[in-house]
Amino acid sequence: MMFEIGEEYILDQEKLRRFEKTGRIESPENNLAADFDLFKEIGLIDIVGPKAREIIEQDCNIVSACAARPYPLVVDRAKGSIITDVDGREYLDFVAGIAVMNAGHSNPEVNAAIFSQLEKMTHCGYGDFFAEPPVKLAKKLIELSAYSKVFYCNSGTEAVEAAIKLAFWKTKRQNLISFYNAFHGRTLGSLSLTCSKIRQKEHFPSIRTVHSHYAYCYRCPLKLEYPSCGIECAKEIENLIFRRELSPDDTAAVFVEPLQGEGGYIVPPTEFHKEVRKICTDNDVLLVADEVQTGCFRTGPFLAMENFEVRADISCLAKALGAGLPIGAMLADSDLMNWPPGVHSNTFGGNLLASAASLASLEFLERENTQNRVKELGSHIKQRLRELQENFPCIGDVRGLGLMIGVEIVKSDKSVDPIRRDKILREAFKERILLLPCGDSAIRFCPPLVITEDEIGLGLDKFEKALNKVGK
Ligand SMILES: Cc1ncc(COP(=O)(O)O)c(C=O)c1O
Repeated sequence: MMFEIGEEYILDQEKLRRFEKTGRIESPENNLAADFDLFKEIGLIDIVGPKAREIIEQDCNIVSACAARPYPLVVDRAKGSIITDVDGREYLDFVAGIAVMNAGHSNPEVNAAIFSQLEKMTHCGYGDFFAEPPVKLAKKLIELSAYSKVFYCNSGTEAVEAAIKLAFWKTKRQNLISFYNAFHGRTLGSLSLTCSKIRQKEHFPSIRTVHSHYAYCYRCPLKLEYPSCGIECAKEIENLIFRRELSPDDTAAVFVEPLQGEGGYIVPPTEFHKEVRKICTDNDVLLVADEVQTGCFRTGPFLAMENFEVRADISCLAKALGAGLPIGAMLADSDLMNWPPGVHSNTFGGNLLASAASLASLEFLERENTQNRVKELGSHIKQRLRELQENFPCIGDVRGLGLMIGVEIVKSDKSVDPIRRDKILREAFKERILLLPCGDSAIRFCPPLVITEDEIGLGLDKFEKALNKVGK
């Protein structure tokens, strides 16, 4: 079974194939060119150009193969929502570097801010000195989020690590709660919270974390129906975990994604977050919103938690925050983020180039009325996907907020169908639209927020062609 589920499916298939041939699981040394061989075997390597083939072959031999790539795209340059590969082929980008390029590729305002900072200086060690760009960015983040303090780092996982440390430091407690299907990162603290795919966790140690059920209504883990369920899943924290497994007096924080991202683009009902918020408040436990994927206007408002009218004690941002440059941030109020100098820091946090890019991107998105635009475009995409659902029974569920939309691919008995899902992704790639998997069997649509209606129409036509090729 393990070989059939998840985004590692392609690599697992390769392992299985080799196992069937040789009767043994091969050592990593023998498995170096796994991606290349696999892409060759499934005919994908022939559809990319010669330069792409050459680069992939070299990559597979000398760069760690621990990331699972769904198809052989070798990028060269990009503008707006179009990516051009090294052989000059153009692809429609419905991925945005995993919800990063919200302001679009090569956004002129972001580029101008980067070039202007580049001419002055790139890095100062903001943990040791002061500088204006990170301060200007902090002002903008405070204005957009209504928190009063900002901590900078370089990535999503680091923002989550910072939140774990702040929660431990503040409460003097050392246990956490998060949710099944959650993804909070892959370093050891954030990985303890992550509960998406066993491949990500096996053999690695954890901080003690108890997992609770998320409101995954399409496949209710408690086999109940919304709304008659009364959001029993959220109540588990109080009814089960706090009574039997982990005392609230030992719990530093509950970590939650506003929408689960890597775990399947799962949108909970509003009451779910309200109930989790209430339980945290009643039990004096901190609530941390991991907005790494949902933040920066991806779902409409600056923070996705605003959709649920819930305010977390701490929010984590990264991905789109840097508009393509690495930066992460943890936001909280000053009475919570009042830890003393020396307790936490890093080398690159508040990097000058990344801060300049981030500020330009946020100002651009704010000015372009992104909040309303993504809601309209998102409704339009969902409507078209729901029309497709009528013709393609393999589309089990269409869900999402703003431009964070998931389609769950299923078998006729509604069970997950990762094999079909991966075929659809590869056919879509042949049609020159980039999509990514998430969860056990879902496809994510998270284009740049500047995508045009025409591009969306074209992309969905291509998606339909891919569905037709794979069959109903
Ligand atoms: C919700 C969420 N948290 C944390 C992370 C980790 O971010 P990074 O890959 O920048 O470490 C991700 C990445 O996908 C994410 O989606």
